[in-house]
Amino acid sequence: MGRRSISAVRTPRTPFPPETGPTLVLHWSVLFVRVKRIMPIQTTAVKFSRTGLPEDVVEVSRMELSDLRPNQVLVRMQAAPINPADLNMLEGRYAVQPELPAVAGMEGIGVVAKKGVGVPGLREGQQVIAPLRTGSWCEAYITEGTNVIPVPPGMPVHQAAMLAINPPTAWHLLHRFVRLHPGDWLIQNAANSGVGRCVIQIAAAKGLRTVSIVRRVELVDELRSLGGDVVVVDGPQLCDEVREATGGAAIRLGLNATCGPILKNMIPCVADGGTVVTYGAMAREPFILSNAHLIFRDIAARGFWIAAWYRKATEPEVQELFAALCPMLKAGKIHCPVEACYPLFQPRDAILHASREGRSGKILFEMG
Ligand SMILES: NC(=O)c1ccc[n+]([C@@H]2O[C@H](COP(=O)([O-])OP(=O)(O)OC[C@H]3O[C@@H](n4cnc5c(N)ncnc54)[C@H](OP(=O)(O)O)[C@@H]3O)[C@@H](O)[C@H]2O)c1
Repeated sequence: MGRRSISAVRTPRTPFPPETGPTLVLHWSVLFVRVKRIMPIQTTAVKFSRTGLPEDVVEVSRMELSDLRPNQVLVRMQAAPINPADLNMLEGRYAVQPELPAVAGMEGIGVVAKKGVGVPGLREGQQVIAPLRTGSWCEAYITEGTNVIPVPPGMPVHQAAMLAINPPTAWHLLHRFVRLHPGDWLIQNAANSGVGRCVIQIAAAKGLRTVSIVRRVELVDELRSLGGDVVVVDGPQLCDEVREATGGAAIRLGLNATCGPILKNMIPCVADGGTVVTYGAMAREPFILSNAHLIFRDIAARGFWIAAWYRKATEPEVQELFAALCPMLKAGKIHCPVEACYPLFQPRDAILHASREGRSGKILFEMG
């Protein structure tokens, strides 16, 4: 009898069967004694076999993980967000696409459930993230120990699930492009997004001053209480409002997650010689910088992608980043609200919810 059928009979829905002791297997009237074999690990995952409308292409699948090999870890997932990039990947519109079928989801928090031999620096029960790995919408996965990063104990689970992408993106947007000093101003659109909130909170902690553009007036007080200095609703009057609220300060950095009309209104608020960094395109429109802003005002256009940074970053650079971010998350100084959590077996509802505009926070899968 094969390994698969034994497990199917004994533990059809047990994600983490323990190692078994001596097992008796009857085969063609011959008795074999199998000593200390490892049962296959079953997991539930949200997979996609084709790209298209995100809510239509996802399916819940029961799958078997391969055996844990040396240098690998088994991670039991706790929570994973649905980010815009996850939806883009399901649509087939992301910069990198996995070979299909694939488990969806690009980040999340989990616990090391088991270590293979030769995995230093990790212990079972430790919470970890895996920033460069696609396939977080699952109960469990196996990966090389070098692919996971431990997070300090005591981190709030939902916030830790969103640690790998948005806070590091905000951090780099504030540090890489324009040298800003305490008291300097920056401006951003989609300011109530996960990244936008991180920008406000990290900037406030560093003494930088933010102009935050939103699409809904009800967000103004909320973002101000988060530390936003000036929060304005997008519109044709934007530049005048910003000039008045900042006393005509030179804003040398603009952060763009939308493109489209909101970007068109934001660019004139950026000072001559300033830089606009694009990291998202929520309006699904091209980035447009007019000849006038380019030639007469010398506005520079840059782009940022956190995945490219992770690929090139050295281990000390990654450690340095998380050494700065984790204490802020733990202390609640970086916080992104969560609007709803769904179990893995409701991916369609979860995705439709995450695709809505005007949300009050993120949508997460909860596996625990
Ligand atoms: N380049 C990178 O490395 C990187 C890293 C992280 C994120 N991102 C990108 O950054 C963007 C924000 O991600 P997130 O996770 O922070 O998002 P999020 O928390 O899910 O929030 C989405 C934001 O987009 C706004 N929005 C939705 N549809 C829009 C439209 N048609 N026009 C203008 N704004 C719209 C929403 O405004 P309302 O609340 O008013 O609907 C909200 O502010 C996404 O494009 C994402 O892909 C890029």
